[in-house]
Amino acid sequence: MDVRFTWTEDLSVHNDVIDAQHQELFAKINELLDAIINDHASDVVEDMVHFFKQYMEEHLRYEENFLAEIGYPETAEHAEKHAAFVDEYKDLKAQLDACDDKEKMAIEMESFMGKWLMDHIHKEDQKYAYFIKENNIPQ
Ligand SMILES: [Fe+2]
Ligand SMILES: [Fe+2]
Repeated sequence: MDVRFTWTEDLSVHNDVIDAQHQELFAKINELLDAIINDHASDVVEDMVHFFKQYMEEHLRYEENFLAEIGYPETAEHAEKHAAFVDEYKDLKAQLDACDDKEKMAIEMESFMGKWLMDHIHKEDQKYAYFIKENNIPQ
C-alpha cells in the first residue's frame, strides 16, 4: 500500500501558485514519511519542524491575502481555521522541543501535518476553489 500523499486534480483550487504550494507541502510530508520508513527520521525532524512552521506561515498568509483580494466572502472564517492550525502547531512544536524521542515525534508530526493538510485542502480550500470557478476569477 502506498501511504504517500498524492496531489490529484480534484484538489486543485484553480490557482497555479497555491496549487504549487500545496504540492510542495505534500512533497515535504512524503520526504518525512520516507525518512521514518528508512529509519533516519531523527536526523531530519528538526529541519522539518522548522520548514513546516515557516512554509505554512507563508502559505497561509499568501492564501488569506489572495482570498481578501478576490473578495471571497468567507475570508475571515477561513483565516480562523488557519489561526487554529498555527496554535495547534505551536503546541506540537513545544512537545517536540521537550521530547527526547525524535523518532516518535517525527511520526506524530507526519500524522498531524498529513491529516490537517488533506482535510483542510479537501474541505476548506475547496470552498474557495468553488468560488473561484463560479466567478471565473482569473489567475
Ligand atoms: Fe491551503
Ligand atoms: Fe486554507
